[in-house]
Amino acid sequence: MLSLEELPLAQTWSGMEAALDKKLCRHIGVSNFSVPKLKALLEVARMRPEMNQIELHPYLQQPEMLNFCRTNKVHITAYSPLGSPDRPSVFKEDDEPVLLKEAVVCQIAEQHGCTAAQILINWAVQREIVVIPKSVNPARMQENLAAASLELTADDMKNIAALDRQRRYVSGAFWALEDGPYTVANLWDEKEEV
Ligand SMILES: NC(=O)c1ccc[n+]([C@@H]2O[C@H](COP(=O)([O-])OP(=O)(O)OC[C@H]3O[C@@H](n4cnc5c(N)ncnc54)[C@H](OP(=O)(O)O)[C@@H]3O)[C@@H](O)[C@H]2O)c1
Repeated sequence: MLSLEELPLAQTWSGMEAALDKKLCRHIGVSNFSVPKLKALLEVARMRPEMNQIELHPYLQQPEMLNFCRTNKVHITAYSPLGSPDRPSVFKEDDEPVLLKEAVVCQIAEQHGCTAAQILINWAVQREIVVIPKSVNPARMQENLAAASLELTADDMKNIAALDRQRRYVSGAFWALEDGPYTVANLWDEKEEV
């Protein structure tokens, strides 16, 4: 595995720009980029990343990232919007909060006569964020698609905004290999304990 010193992001990005030049792809973007990494990339990029795909849900609302991306015209895709309940248990904590059972979200769902998953999806839609809930179940896929037509009230949005707690479900620990160049801290450019 190459470190960012051995293979700087600017070099990787120029390879992606070349792929776009040659029409080998239609769009280029990034995933799991922090604001500092995006800033550094935008300084050297010939073509801006169209998208940053990041974990985003009411427990990890990332307001600074949203502002930065809006200002710099980078779209955001929200992954794990339902709290990624089926990720391997080795990546879960025993006492982790379960987003689909969050009392505030469940109460709002009851008021709208829909499911907690639909509230979580619509919350992203109302913030004008692309959202990619994963399901292998056709009925849930229908349910998730139907969430687009809900309308959360200003009060609902305010109550959900109060749930932010910088809680990642995808901690990134599996990218931090022993003796490898990456740590959870240099991945997110945040404190080690997130
Ligand atoms: N770029 C990255 O680093 C990154 C990291 C993580 C994830 N992702 C991507 O993000 C997407 C979604 O993330 P994710 O799979 O981690 O988490 P997620 O979408 O938050 O959660 C998926 C789980 O929610 C369940 N589910 C789906 N719809 C539901 C509903 N209406 N009611 C109740 N449960 C429901 C699914 O079960 P069923 O399938 O049984 O319905 C599955 O267990 C995936 O495509 C994934 O590849 C990207």
